[in-house]
Amino acid sequence: MVAGVPGFLYGTAWKEGRTPALTELALRMGFRGIDTANQRRHYFEAGVGQGLAAAYRAGVVTRAELFLQTKFTDPRGQDHRLPYDPAADLATQVAQSLQSSLEHLGTDHVDSYVLHGPAAGHGWTDEDAEVWAAMATERDAGRARLLGVSNVGLPHLEQMAASGAEAPAFVQNRCFARLGWDREVRAFCTSREIVYQGFSLLTANPEVLRHRLVAAIAARGTVTPAQVVFRFAQAVGMLPLTGTSDAEHMTQDLASHDLALTADEVRAIESLAG
Ligand SMILES: NC(=O)c1ccc[n+]([C@@H]2O[C@H](COP(=O)([O-])OP(=O)(O)OC[C@H]3O[C@@H](n4cnc5c(N)ncnc54)[C@H](OP(=O)(O)O)[C@@H]3O)[C@@H](O)[C@H]2O)c1
Repeated sequence: MVAGVPGFLYGTAWKEGRTPALTELALRMGFRGIDTANQRRHYFEAGVGQGLAAAYRAGVVTRAELFLQTKFTDPRGQDHRLPYDPAADLATQVAQSLQSSLEHLGTDHVDSYVLHGPAAGHGWTDEDAEVWAAMATERDAGRARLLGVSNVGLPHLEQMAASGAEAPAFVQNRCFARLGWDREVRAFCTSREIVYQGFSLLTANPEVLRHRLVAAIAARGTVTPAQVVFRFAQAVGMLPLTGTSDAEHMTQDLASHDLALTADEVRAIESLAG
């Protein structure tokens, strides 16, 4: 695991006006990693900053104790509320977006800066390469500590590597059990010491949450099926995200780390849907 990265990330998507209070609550409940994006369509990044500020004021946590991650989202992923000039070149868009993120989050650097998605579904394009290089420039200037890519398939990662581009520190993907929990991408990440961040671990996998194997493990450990899934994710090396709005679920999600799974159970969950 990369140094200074917590074992769980709290995701701030789709919370709108509740974003400040839920971000502060997540910190109070013990989360030390926050995931957001400068994409007003799905995230209220300035609201995350308000939640952080409230937590700092209350002495819950300091900036130095946090892992803050945000994203660059290209115009195709945005609505009309753009954090950059759409007529500017890509490097300028990246610089403007990150500058706006730093203002929203009240910090001089983020711990991780993620390319929200590649420009095309099939592979790593020249446009991606240009954005990635601009992100590296921001990192070199001290405005981000680590870089990541999101919503990528194996071809993106292989072409990115073949182009000679610097490898990401993180890959953040929706994780479907029926695809072996993104087996191919996870294997690529493992082989290159890239940390795989998994989202939608619960919402993408309702069949797993209902599965009798998972129910039996949950009963044995007096935990919930959701906790079994999160513990499984960590056991296979993933860094899971949760976007729960519920204080009790926040506690459960963090406590899932304490559930002991046998190697056989991990293997069984890994292959139960695909
Ligand atoms: N890179 C990308 O393109 C991308 C896309 C989507 C999401 N993300 C990131 O990932 C984060 C998480 O998103 P997500 O797609 O995983 O969905 P999510 O918003 O985390 O939804 C999780 C669902 O699981 C429930 N839940 C959480 N913990 C639970 C527990 N212990 N027991 C029962 N239910 C539980 C939540 O309900 P309650 O609220 O009732 O607990 C919620 O309905 C987002 O906030 C965002 O930061 C990134």
